[in-house]
Amino acid sequence: MNDIQTALFQAADQARRHSYAPYSRYPVGAAILSETGQIYAGTNIEESAYICTHAEQAAISNMITHEGAHRIVAVLVITGADGDGQLGTPCGHCRQWLREHGDPDSMQIHVAGPEGVRRTFTLAELLPYSFGPDNLRTPHR
Ligand code: THU
Ligand code: ZN
Repeated sequence: MNDIQTALFQAADQARRHSYAPYSRYPVGAAILSETGQIYAGTNIEESAYICTHAEQAAISNMITHEGAHRIVAVLVITGADGDGQLGTPCGHCRQWLREHGDPDSMQIHVAGPEGVRRTFTLAELLPYSFGPDNLRTPHR
């Protein structure tokens, strides 16, 4: 892992330790790097109605709460158990949240397990032909 990945990993790992996931028992940690150079972390927070906040959404909420909306440069998500080899990629809803705040072709999505990064994608790879803010900027009717 490079320096940025290591910093994101540490932030996501710390957040994941605070996960509130008594129903799924599937803790997730996420950390995002904004264009300002700041890192924002989040973890999944469940409740008995099963609507639930996802880790990526919590991290984006933290960014916007602390410094307003900024472009996201990179994201790192930690799920799973040591060496299980699973790719715990962000779900469809989280991909759309990420799409709102960054460039799909350059945004790096690092998918990690507790032992480190397993694979890196661009957002465009995970969400091809995406719908985004530009779709609403063309005239309609
Ligand atoms: N989860 C996330 O935090 N991010 C995702 O994109 C996938 C799912 C959480 C939600 C729930 O608390 C648990 O993982 C199982 O779905
Ligand atoms: Zn999600």
